[in-house]
Amino acid sequence: MAARIKPLVAGNWKMNGLTAARKEVVALAMKLDGKKKPACEILLCPPATLIAAAREVARGSKIAIGGQDCHAKASGAHTGDISAEMLKDAGATYVIVGHSERRADHNETDAIVKAKAEAAHRAGLTAIVCVGETEAERDAGKTLTIIKSQLKGSLPDAATAKMTVVAYEPVWAIGTGRTPTADDVAKVHGAIRKALETRFGSEGAKMRILYGGSVKPSNAVELMAVPNVNGALVGGASLRAGDFWGIISTYC
Ligand code: 13P
Repeated sequence: MAARIKPLVAGNWKMNGLTAARKEVVALAMKLDGKKKPACEILLCPPATLIAAAREVARGSKIAIGGQDCHAKASGAHTGDISAEMLKDAGATYVIVGHSERRADHNETDAIVKAKAEAAHRAGLTAIVCVGETEAERDAGKTLTIIKSQLKGSLPDAATAKMTVVAYEPVWAIGTGRTPTADDVAKVHGAIRKALETRFGSEGAKMRILYGGSVKPSNAVELMAVPNVNGALVGGASLRAGDFWGIISTYC
């Protein structure tokens, strides 16, 4: 009963990119321009400092712009933080929440991630909620237990397929050049789909599940062909338009 789901290919620039990186957005927009009707959605999540500029140069193109994190509150005394409303105001339509680097560097718990996803929805942003096991958890055979518990704790009860995307990013595959086998990805994505359907019914059947972790032009075809993989969340290979296009064009 696999629903037809339009894939999403998202680039997460992390803490990379100065003003000059706008040229990568321009280059990507030009490549996409050649495609009349891309078969997938394209999203770039630059650092917050570049969101407005990226939105400006991507205007009229098929590239959506997103943030990499948001605060749970709409405004207030939270020095250095950025709200979902502010991201929206700067031109974002998506925001990543619960990335493993945020969970590790900023001690973000499932409850915090859920509050951020709710904030995204409140502001009208689609939340990309990240889950993923560490290498130690994987070696201990706990991958599915960890993923299910992260999903349970991090996804808002009111999540819909339009406003929520799940990204499976095994922590040990991020930035390492290592990836799970297609079989392993199929097992985890299958379990995620089942959990989403059980909790959200038909919305769960339509919700996009992205794979992330060392996605490159060279492995994108194999990873993207796995059942229940509805797109990719790409780090390093999204920084240059040429590399990112190599991934996008396997899909779109
Ligand atoms: P890499 O593609 O650099 O492994 O990063 C993946 C990631 O963390 C995307 O959010």
